[in-house]
Amino acid sequence: MKVRKAVIPIAGLGTRHFPASHAVKKEMFPVVGLDGIARALFHYHLLELEAAGIEEICIIVQPGEDEIVRDYLRGPDDNYIKRLAKYPELLREAEQMRGFAKRVSFAVQREQEGYGHAVFQTKDFAGGEMVLLGLGDHLFRGKPVSPYRELADMAKISGGKSVSAVNRISANELKGYGTIAGARHHENPRLIDVSLIIEKPAIAVAEEKLRVDDLPEQTWLGWFGMHLLAPSIYEILGEMIRDNVRDNGEFQLTRAQEIQRQRHGYLALEMTSAQRFDFGVPDDFVASVRSFRYSA
Ligand code: UTP
Repeated sequence: MKVRKAVIPIAGLGTRHFPASHAVKKEMFPVVGLDGIARALFHYHLLELEAAGIEEICIIVQPGEDEIVRDYLRGPDDNYIKRLAKYPELLREAEQMRGFAKRVSFAVQREQEGYGHAVFQTKDFAGGEMVLLGLGDHLFRGKPVSPYRELADMAKISGGKSVSAVNRISANELKGYGTIAGARHHENPRLIDVSLIIEKPAIAVAEEKLRVDDLPEQTWLGWFGMHLLAPSIYEILGEMIRDNVRDNGEFQLTRAQEIQRQRHGYLALEMTSAQRFDFGVPDDFVASVRSFRYSA
């Protein structure tokens, strides 16, 4: 089965980037690519997803923000375009962006009620197909294949189950990520049959319950920031929203993923060479801007 659709949520409040996020939403902060071109952060998701063969992309936004994103992608007026003539690579960029402006679609999250709630807004877009989901305030880069491509390819062998990208994390990172227990597949040890998912586990809980074979001491597998989601996730998120099942006041995707695991089974793919860049808080933003520009 081929994965055709992807979802990028950029509807969060970006509180930790205040006051800068009051001027520009964090997913539109400038980030310089390997080619030296400065683009809005979310723009790289479109480039990476297109390179991964994804045909339809849906961006989750706050009310009114679809126009801001469309405006960015449509590019400047004719006068400005004339000025770009002396920078042919930027002119090409503007053309490519206009193509995206026609192709991307939007889902609106009216209230900022969490990541799971944001994803639920794309139920109609998904239309019963598997979708790729990437964290809007992170970026990903593959060596040599896009991690989006690697994850999408898992649909061919997952038997309809969701698959989450995971990578190795240490004890002090547990507080930041959904973390798994599970058993590796014999024929492909990067693939894991997940037996438990806990969001931001305490170290004692992780030590007791979240083991995966062939990992060094004090090492776990935590969310990398992208998931391949089977359509039943929407049903589960719908139930959670109907029954007002919240964690820390929000509808969390990780809880829905654990319920999906219990009902249908769940897989994880260990990312071994792909890179992840986190732009979610100011200091990580500074470090990621530098490493995204220079670390190929
Ligand atoms: P974060 O967990 O970083 O939340 O979201 P946030 O609201 O953006 O930032 P803070 O905590 O206020 O500083 C991770 C990704 O999920 C999106 C965000 O836009 C970000 O790309 N998100 C989060 C939504 O789309 N909707 C939400 O309700 C929450």
